[in-house]
Amino acid sequence: MTELIYLSDSYRQNDRAKIVSSERSEKDTLIVLDQTIFYPQGGGQPSDKGEIVGPNGKAKVKHVRMQGDDVVHECILEGELKAGDHVDCAIDWDWRYRNMRRHSAGHIVHEAAMIVSPLLIPVKGEHGSNPYIEYKGSLPIDSKYVIEKKANEIVEKNLALTTEFVSLEELQKRASYVPQHLPKNKPLRILIIEGFHPIPDGGTQVSKTSEVGPITISKIENEDDKVRIYYAIEETQPSVSIPQESLSGAQYVGFVLEAQQNAKKILEDTSLGVEDLRIALLGSKSELASLTKQIRNVIASDRQQAGTVLNQVKRSIEKQLNEVSSVKRQASSEEFFDMTAPGIPPPMGHLHIVTQAITEITRIFEKIGFTRVRHPEVDWDWYAFESLNMPPNHPARDEWETFFVESSKLENNKRFQSIVLTPHTSNGQVREMEKSKLPIRMINIAKCYRRQSDVSHVPMFHQFEGMYIDKGVSIGNLTGVFDFFVKNYHGIDRKIRLRPFHFQFTEPSFEVDINCGICLGKGCRLCKEGWLELGGAGMIHPVVLKNGGINPQDYNGFAFGWGVERAYMMKSGTKLDDIRLIYSNDIRFLQQF
Ligand code: DAH
Repeated sequence: MTELIYLSDSYRQNDRAKIVSSERSEKDTLIVLDQTIFYPQGGGQPSDKGEIVGPNGKAKVKHVRMQGDDVVHECILEGELKAGDHVDCAIDWDWRYRNMRRHSAGHIVHEAAMIVSPLLIPVKGEHGSNPYIEYKGSLPIDSKYVIEKKANEIVEKNLALTTEFVSLEELQKRASYVPQHLPKNKPLRILIIEGFHPIPDGGTQVSKTSEVGPITISKIENEDDKVRIYYAIEETQPSVSIPQESLSGAQYVGFVLEAQQNAKKILEDTSLGVEDLRIALLGSKSELASLTKQIRNVIASDRQQAGTVLNQVKRSIEKQLNEVSSVKRQASSEEFFDMTAPGIPPPMGHLHIVTQAITEITRIFEKIGFTRVRHPEVDWDWYAFESLNMPPNHPARDEWETFFVESSKLENNKRFQSIVLTPHTSNGQVREMEKSKLPIRMINIAKCYRRQSDVSHVPMFHQFEGMYIDKGVSIGNLTGVFDFFVKNYHGIDRKIRLRPFHFQFTEPSFEVDINCGICLGKGCRLCKEGWLELGGAGMIHPVVLKNGGINPQDYNGFAFGWGVERAYMMKSGTKLDDIRLIYSNDIRFLQQF
């Protein structure tokens, strides 16, 4: 059984060990040691490489794996290495440190993902050249920005990563999740990123999150009931070369106490200002900063205690510095105010997603000659229904769960007898025709109201109503305009399809579908059949034209009415399980867009 040195000290680069067995296979020599600093492949982290040097030979370690309780080093041997030899081992530190940083980055990304979506269930992690973590569950693809932000916040906070060996019972009690298959041939260990829940882990880890450097979330991939978060770190970040441990705890604490004495003298120096004091005592070139770096040189068994002493001394110096600075501040009645210092920028907001969508939709239709118009959002029943070929009590009206408005000031006109909160933007059709300016290319974007509120409906939402009236308008024009819109708004690889339908105000009528942005029409978990419904459309009914004062013998046209929120969701791939979130004014939600 090989003792796993890397499990308790991931910064150890060299070791002296004894060969337990050395066997020649066809191409390689397989060496087992009594103890090893080489990490064997597993847990998503690639195995170490390096060298084993003995009295009569030298082995290049190419790959390392677990076999039962033993760690097998697959080597190319020059000379001879045999059981009983004492050997010097060295790992390829650049390679290990990069893998270690990538592995720790995976854990940081996991914590960030848990903040964003706590219900995800971890499945596995891969921390090699194309690293990712996989969960059971799903994530909107644009949550990569929030996860990246949260992960980098953890990196910047420079939190400590510590590990502890635990019993199975303790692991089950403390860890945030327990993997299905726990290794039987290694001691159980948990990893704790300062402030987060412990996680089972057997890999090598850096000691501070800042060592990982900036993290990028390259993509989020949903497939079946699983989601993968792919991430990357800067590979070129120069690896810090850490000297071998050499200090005992007592020696180190001696240095810390000396630094404390020196700090006292500095604090007594009345010629120094508060900022100078802070730099001298706690700045990056201070004695304390260099001692903090040197903690790695303390032998592993003493390191924790040495770190505790260092932190206590640090805190006491900070406290004394604060006391001195408040005394100094009181003493100088005129506090220095630096008028030239740059101001603190206020937090920046951005337009609401629906406003962003409305602006973009307007710009696209403007390119092909449509003009955005506004019509009343509280309107006569005549415009919302009757003029659209839906007289009172017509059953088709049931589709629009309308709010009626009581009004005492009704006009003395048969047409204007009741008022509604517009349940759709189609009320703009006849109103636009009444302007008597032909041809018409209108895009009417407005609020709509319906008696509905559930996960996919809100009582107030937005529609955009397009209408084109000219001489000789065809269904070919209709499909051309829709195609132009979806290619510009949703993406060049998106397509539309028309399905026959029925509306009172169009003949023929269609439902317009767009191919799914994720599978492009093949069918996936999001869309089921490859197509998603955008909204209604059709060739304007002659009765509607007549109601707008247009002679259907001379002119014809098409119209369509689609939901703004719906069209936006189909663009971004945002899978909202509750559309009411858009209007909940929750800053955590809105910041993501
Ligand atoms: N007004 C319809 C609705 O809210 C949508 C619609 C369908 C608008 C067909 C149109 C059209 O202009 O031609 O469901």
